[in-house]
Amino acid sequence: MKKKFIVAITGASGSIYGFHLVSALMKYPVELFVLMSDSGRQVAAHETGFKSGSIAEYLEQTGGVFHEQATLNETDPADSFAPVASGSFQHHGMVIAPCSMNTLAAVSNGITSNLIHRAADVCLKEKRALILLARETPLSLIHLKNMTRAAEAGATIMPPSPGFYARPKTIDDLVDSIVARVLDHLHIGNRLSARWPQA
Ligand SMILES: Cc1cc2nc3c(=O)[nH]c(=O)nc-3n(C[C@H](O)[C@H](O)[C@H](O)COP(=O)(O)O)c2cc1C
Repeated sequence: MKKKFIVAITGASGSIYGFHLVSALMKYPVELFVLMSDSGRQVAAHETGFKSGSIAEYLEQTGGVFHEQATLNETDPADSFAPVASGSFQHHGMVIAPCSMNTLAAVSNGITSNLIHRAADVCLKEKRALILLARETPLSLIHLKNMTRAAEAGATIMPPSPGFYARPKTIDDLVDSIVARVLDHLHIGNRLSARWPQA
């Protein structure tokens, strides 16, 4: 059976993390469900070359090469009847990259007003991997408490704050150093970024 993953891109700065993650996962024979919030689409249009439309097309236009058995299901976050809404739909983990403080607040308080929140809520109740690339700076006490609540419920809080010990040369290097850690947590072997100690 192909491994199945969910990636959600929300309206925090750093849509590039979500796009690189989707591209990286699509290099494996996986079934991927990708959701973008409305704010995620707007911020991505501002920060990247993404225009409203297909994520797969955008990634292919920008050089993404996918595994021939990989499939990408672009799922409407308003579609509460989609597979990812149900705990009976089995998958191998969900990543919200980047994760806005709004979405973090919803997830950490069990509010499921869209399919991204619902799919994350399902991960927590079903004890499946949920990784939040929570992005804001500075962090208020409310943000910190919401991160703690989500972590206590089983989520992995992985702020996209890259290390510099691999001496990154480009923005892509920085982004991929975070995406590599996400793949590690999804148990996907990868050489996307240098490991310590460096060979
Ligand atoms: C250019 C831009 C950058 C933003 N960056 C952040 C951010 O880094 N973190 C955050 O929590 N919200 C950020 N926001 C605000 C969110 O987009 C906003 O709170 C939105 O309601 C989040 O909705 P969502 O969680 O459904 O995606 C940003 C908004 C804009 C327009």
